[in-house]
Amino acid sequence: MPQPSSSTAPSAKEGLYELGDVPELGRVPAKMLAQVIRAERFGEPIDAFKQEALDVPVLGAHEVLVYVMAAGVNYNNVWAAMGIPIDVIKTRMKRGEPEAFHVGGSDASGVVWAIGADVTNVEVGDDVVVHCGMWDHDDPNILAGKDPMLGPTQKIWGYESNWGSFAQYTKVQDHQCVPKPERLTWEEAASYMLVGATAYRMLHGWPPNIVNPGDPVLVWGGAGGLGSMAIQIVAAAGGRPVAVVSGDSKNEFCKKLGAVGVIDRRKFEHWGKLPRWSDELEYSVWLKGARGFGAAFWEALGEKRNPTIVFEHPGETTLPTSAFMCDTGGMVVICAGTTGYNATLDLRYHWMRQKRLQGSHFANDDQAIGINNLVAEGKVDPCLSRTFTFAETGACHQLMRDNKHPSGNMAILVNAPRPGLRTIAEVRAAKI
Ligand SMILES: NC(=O)c1ccc[n+]([C@@H]2O[C@H](COP(=O)([O-])OP(=O)(O)OC[C@H]3O[C@@H](n4cnc5c(N)ncnc54)[C@H](OP(=O)(O)O)[C@@H]3O)[C@@H](O)[C@H]2O)c1
Repeated sequence: MPQPSSSTAPSAKEGLYELGDVPELGRVPAKMLAQVIRAERFGEPIDAFKQEALDVPVLGAHEVLVYVMAAGVNYNNVWAAMGIPIDVIKTRMKRGEPEAFHVGGSDASGVVWAIGADVTNVEVGDDVVVHCGMWDHDDPNILAGKDPMLGPTQKIWGYESNWGSFAQYTKVQDHQCVPKPERLTWEEAASYMLVGATAYRMLHGWPPNIVNPGDPVLVWGGAGGLGSMAIQIVAAAGGRPVAVVSGDSKNEFCKKLGAVGVIDRRKFEHWGKLPRWSDELEYSVWLKGARGFGAAFWEALGEKRNPTIVFEHPGETTLPTSAFMCDTGGMVVICAGTTGYNATLDLRYHWMRQKRLQGSHFANDDQAIGINNLVAEGKVDPCLSRTFTFAETGACHQLMRDNKHPSGNMAILVNAPRPGLRTIAEVRAAKI
């Protein structure tokens, strides 16, 4: 079991290495630096994260210790920092885990530093990218050959689990490790997996509603983490993505990624929950807004066709429009409710046009490998827009919380001392 103790006064005597001071390959120190969330600090991310020295976690038989070069920034640790919609620490402690703190971080690139007794797929010294899908290897659902993401033991590493990537070492399950694409820097390699694999499952994981050549697809938040991946995945499959954004500067960004058109959502005002269907005046105002948005989609696409897939995550404010404009027999696939959870839709359009509303959550191993291959082949760019220092972990989550973060994805340097490095040899040399 991992040791729950922590201290705020790291010292070399305790076996703690400074960031970027790389130990001999495979030598595991007693302590590590981590950006830690505690319940008493729940609130704005800028204040919730604090650097502490913690004991390095101990591995189980199917687990891997990864020396973290860089970590990715995702919305889930904005939620973890705020303690909503769930208190991740309390939830874990209820499950019997002892640590009264959260080490978040659900994206990482790094080097395999130690492996458990039953690990066979990676070796000490391998350069890896870590995906965030966790499940017990003996989960009954998984033993029955079903999708692990539908199993009862499924969790998201670095959000529902402790020991994520905002620390010098992270503890992961063996199957979470995929090969790091050699051409990428450490920070690029840490930036795409969570959003990329989530988008891949949403667009390729729900047959028969998968993206096919020529298909029009509406992508909400096209310049965001998920959206930037979705545009490229649709384009790589020969589909025609239309992105929605707020802000002129995001248009070009989306078009460069392969969007055939871009809609500025600030031109519309019909957002939010649907008015009651029997309120004719209110409803007609909403319908006018939704039809106007549909017309903007046709214009951006260059053709009067509705989206066969609507790639959803804003949730409450946008779902009524998504469900309305989705093509007959098409799918609204949704993985989040960033603006709220009480989604409304007009069921008349839903059943008469036989649409599908599909929930989707992260990805299984095959889907993580799917996006990793697209990145390795250069068909999907990680869209790394900004790299932060370890001390800026709270600051970059705050930017995300305030929707002031740059387009694409963000990363944090953990042990990598500066951007632009691709191997451990380069990291060691950079320190000297
Ligand atoms: N379930 C999963 O597996 C999973 C995986 C990844 C992410 N998520 C969740 O998905 C959500 C998005 O994640 P992300 O990494 O893409 O975040 P992100 O980089 O912040 O992008 C979200 C985008 O949503 C758009 N947006 C914000 N408010 C909006 C509104 N009121 N109406 C329409 N669009 C709005 C913004 O674009 P514009 O302002 O330009 O429109 C923003 O760029 C988060 O809630 C995250 O937790 C879930």
